[in-house]
Amino acid sequence: MYRSHNCGALRATDINKTVTLSGWVQKSRDKGFIIWTDLRDRYGVTQLIFDTERTEAKVIELAKTLGREFVIQVTGKVIERESKNTKIPTGEIEVLVAQLEVLNEAKLPPFTIEDDTDGGEDIRMKYRYLDIRRNPVKESLIFRSKVANEVRNYLADQEFIEVETPYLIKSTPEGARDFVVPSRMNEGEFYALPQSPQTFKQLLMVGGMDKYFQIVKCFRDEDLRADRQPEFTQIDCEMAFVEQEDILNIFEGLTKHLLKKLHNFEIENFPRMTFDHAMKTYGNDKPDIRFGMEFGELNTVAQHKDFKVFNSAELVVGIAVPNGASYTRKEIDKLIDWVKRPQVGALGMVYVKCNEDGTFKSSVDKFYDQEDLKNWAAATGAKAGDLICVLSGSTNKVRAQLSALRMELAERLGLRKPNEFAPLWVIDFPLLELDEETGHYHAMHHPFTSPKPGQLELLDTDPGAVKANAYDLVLNGNEIGGGSIRIHDKEIQATMFKHLGFTPEEAETQFGFLMDAFQYGAPPHGGLAFGLDRLVAILGGQETIRDFIAFPKNNSGRDVMIDAPAALDNEQLSELNIKLDIQ
Ligand code: AMO
Repeated sequence: MYRSHNCGALRATDINKTVTLSGWVQKSRDKGFIIWTDLRDRYGVTQLIFDTERTEAKVIELAKTLGREFVIQVTGKVIERESKNTKIPTGEIEVLVAQLEVLNEAKLPPFTIEDDTDGGEDIRMKYRYLDIRRNPVKESLIFRSKVANEVRNYLADQEFIEVETPYLIKSTPEGARDFVVPSRMNEGEFYALPQSPQTFKQLLMVGGMDKYFQIVKCFRDEDLRADRQPEFTQIDCEMAFVEQEDILNIFEGLTKHLLKKLHNFEIENFPRMTFDHAMKTYGNDKPDIRFGMEFGELNTVAQHKDFKVFNSAELVVGIAVPNGASYTRKEIDKLIDWVKRPQVGALGMVYVKCNEDGTFKSSVDKFYDQEDLKNWAAATGAKAGDLICVLSGSTNKVRAQLSALRMELAERLGLRKPNEFAPLWVIDFPLLELDEETGHYHAMHHPFTSPKPGQLELLDTDPGAVKANAYDLVLNGNEIGGGSIRIHDKEIQATMFKHLGFTPEEAETQFGFLMDAFQYGAPPHGGLAFGLDRLVAILGGQETIRDFIAFPKNNSGRDVMIDAPAALDNEQLSELNIKLDIQ
């Protein structure tokens, strides 16, 4: 038996018991006649004491050789500590060691296994198994497991069935590139790894499964960001005989269930906002509504004077920064530099200080009088003491720029509180999105999403105006999930493919199986998928998903621990009939 208790279990009530513990040496303090060693495992830390008066000499000798991260087993008596540590649950006791066995020695770790480590990101990723021993990483993984369990509990209660779908499939269009796998048995042919199980879950609805879910890996070859990994996990769901309302209700319930179970946080407000409203009010389809700073459009109150910059702009729009009137000239200049950074791309910024005495001081006083500026304050909701920041330009660009500024300022002002949660649905997304480079439309969600009733005809005349039965779940400014009511009619699906630029042959080759299935009694259906990594990160009060994934990839898509991706040897390549032509 390696242990009678774990390293987080012992309390004052265990005093005088003889116990056996196993774990890792966190650190040892050798005071000559006494050695104290902190023994760690997943559950906590227990202090061991080796005492020349009470512990055998050969055990003391061995104790002196213990290095950090040695794996040991000890047996001894639980005694009361002289100086208690109120910071840890085992802080009232220590174990007076009678027997010690070194189960495995350890090389000196390349960084300290402490909450605040001295190891940089790269080295921690290379030795991720050591990083996982640290509390912050360990706790994140435990938290992730709790979230996944609660998801399963809730969905099982709602009669969802977990079904596994294959990983070796062919392309599912979710807007990214596919990762592909060569087939040895089918020369020259490749599987694609699923960007999502989209088509399979629809086929499960045709199969009568009614309510499906799966916590499933998805693979997308796209550029990485803090909230994106090439392989990530979805909570993927689909339901038959449902309308949008049914789906929103079920998953609003899931979100509330998770917040209640994990944070004891009650959600009272679960707003629904149209895509158009979100874009107009927050410049963004995933607005953070934990704070205000809503956009005020100023065209009608700012385009009647001689200020050419505004007069020539498609949109003039501002936000009120709470208590920003006290910013110094230097601080405002820095803000202007910030919006002019290439990542944001604004050409400049106009500002108005709303003085406490009700007057205004702006950077465009030459063009606008107090009455004009008062109207701007009204439109942006600015109060005395606030600063109004105004950007102008083409609508889409200027909205994105002001949205970036809104988020940055909220961050600086501490308005993005990690322990507050503000979910919402964004609904009525456009069905199609124009790719400005190619001039072609592509599906904003995916090609299986149905247009809103009665809008099919618009596809021929004004495709950009067609709205979809599609929705996103947004939490604290992050897109946590997305889904739609699907097309379940072969003809409509074929029309959709035509509008997306597929020839009938291409549509048949790629998605013939789905359109065939639609001819055998496909029920009306719809669903959605949550990004589990993102959900866990946000619920954990963070936005970087890497910290919640046991073995993540770095920004170049590499696993630096196992050193993947890697070249294949010639034998493997020839088995796969792959000839490389790399210079
Ligand atoms: P979508 O493409 O919106 O929908 O993906 C669903 C959710 O998955 C998460 N997500 C990611 N998380 C981490 N890294 C990534 N690279 C990544 N890409 C997406 C997001 C996103 O909201 N089949 C549809 C769902 C449906 O229609 O039912 C789909 O995959 O949180």
